[in-house]
Amino acid sequence: MPVIEVQHPLVKHKIGLLREADISTKKFRELTSEVARLLAYEATADFPLEKVTLECWSGPTAVDRIKGKKVTVVPVLRAGIGMLDGVLDMIPNAKISVVGLSRNHDTLQPEHYFENFVGDLGARTALIIDPMLATAGSMNATIDLLKRKGCQDIRALVLVAAPEGVKALDTAHPDVRCWTAAIDSHLNEQGYIIPGLGDAGDKIFGTK
Ligand code: PRP
Ligand code: URA
Repeated sequence: MPVIEVQHPLVKHKIGLLREADISTKKFRELTSEVARLLAYEATADFPLEKVTLECWSGPTAVDRIKGKKVTVVPVLRAGIGMLDGVLDMIPNAKISVVGLSRNHDTLQPEHYFENFVGDLGARTALIIDPMLATAGSMNATIDLLKRKGCQDIRALVLVAAPEGVKALDTAHPDVRCWTAAIDSHLNEQGYIIPGLGDAGDKIFGTK
């Protein structure tokens, strides 16, 4: 099952607060960052460690360090930008790759308008960030781009997923794991997640 619904009480509490209809832009941004931080914590739980010896105040001491992981965080424009600072709080040395996709309101198909990837993707873990997994068209297109560039360890963080998107992601990319704060009920006729968050990009950018 590539989509993992995180059950941590802090995650559940914060995603509940995000659903409030008249939430302010400030509060929506803050909670998005906080949930992103917690999802990043979960999605990196299997990073391997190695021992290194440091000169500590009490003498040479073996300490743990993350072994050989080079990370690129991949915000999907626009809305993924809202999760970026939270993930970078946890992985401050990560490089940033950017993918620009816009979902066509009529066809619900993603339209590609920008990409800028860091080098050496074959040696990196990619953490795709996008608040919403609806049909999964945007997520699958982003994963396709990363795979074409040679990336082999691809993970995704989304605030809310629809069962339709979970299925589509699982079918297209069973090797990619995705951590989400909630798997909701369904998509409505306009392709919005119900109950969902509404238009996450508009709420993060204050455009509605
Ligand atoms: C939203 C969202 C995802 C996509 C999800 O972005 O942030 O990228 O739709 O839908 P899907 O799973 O059906 O592809 P949108 O294209 O509306 O653009 P925005 O980030 O600029 O608001
Ligand atoms: N994009 C959003 O911002 N919200 C949804 O519910 C679906 C796609």
